[in-house]
Amino acid sequence: MTDFPPIITGGSDLSEFLSANKSAVDAALADAGALLFRGFDVPDPLAFDAAINGYGEMVFTYEDSLSNAVRTNVTSRVFTANEAPPTTEIFLHHEMAQTPLYPSKLFFYCEIAPGEGGATPVCRSDWVLDRLKAETPSFYADCREHGLRYTNVMPGSDDAGSGQGRSWRSTLSVESREQAESRLAELGYDWEWLDGDVLRATTPVLPAIREIGDGRETFFNQLIAAYRGWSDSRNDPNRAITLGNGEPISADAMADVIAIADELTADIAWQAGDVALIDNFTVMHGRRPFAGKRRVLASLIS
Ligand code: FE2
Repeated sequence: MTDFPPIITGGSDLSEFLSANKSAVDAALADAGALLFRGFDVPDPLAFDAAINGYGEMVFTYEDSLSNAVRTNVTSRVFTANEAPPTTEIFLHHEMAQTPLYPSKLFFYCEIAPGEGGATPVCRSDWVLDRLKAETPSFYADCREHGLRYTNVMPGSDDAGSGQGRSWRSTLSVESREQAESRLAELGYDWEWLDGDVLRATTPVLPAIREIGDGRETFFNQLIAAYRGWSDSRNDPNRAITLGNGEPISADAMADVIAIADELTADIAWQAGDVALIDNFTVMHGRRPFAGKRRVLASLIS
């Protein structure tokens, strides 16, 4: 996998490049699932914002999303990727696949390269699914038949110390419990209020597998991230995810999924000025732990 993701090198203005080569870029993205633009002139977040503008697609805003990550906006369409502490690994996932609202593509921009660690692992989810189908057919059949339900326990105000720390007020864009309940009902969630202004919310059944055309399927979900990583003072990974029929996911099946995905993962080792474009339906991403400074910004496409 040394050629994944492919690197597109240039020395020019990335905004102009993306605007002039939009259809070629999209064809390359459809083929590879992820692209890394290196050596372009992207000195700061404003240049990154301009590059997204040059690409010219609709932006998916953090405010509108049901993402559980605490983030900070840098421009109206650019935000910090996740405020979780450096030592916290963020495991492979498709962005917001644990909610009914998700972006189709993601841009990442490295403003400050990490001192140590801090790569962004990427993994072709269609390749993972092909392997699962062949090697764990009964788990594949369960995923296909039942889908998944995710449970998240959200604090009343943002907890930046957790990768899952976004408050229920911010997540649901509401101010009161009453508004939260009507939003949850609209989205088909089940919920329960816990002590300390904490909300436990469970999604409706969401597909575990997505068809992406030409008979291809991807493992479009947050199973790995939820199972390995949704752990904080409020969240227990063993309760975070079940099959759509309420059955737990077997630890053996998860061990297989994790081993296959790890085997197929490549790391984007960031250099300052790099920009990555990721097809959120085809490729999972995560974040390796790091030491020292690191600033990677993100933007989402509807
Ligand atoms: Fe993410």
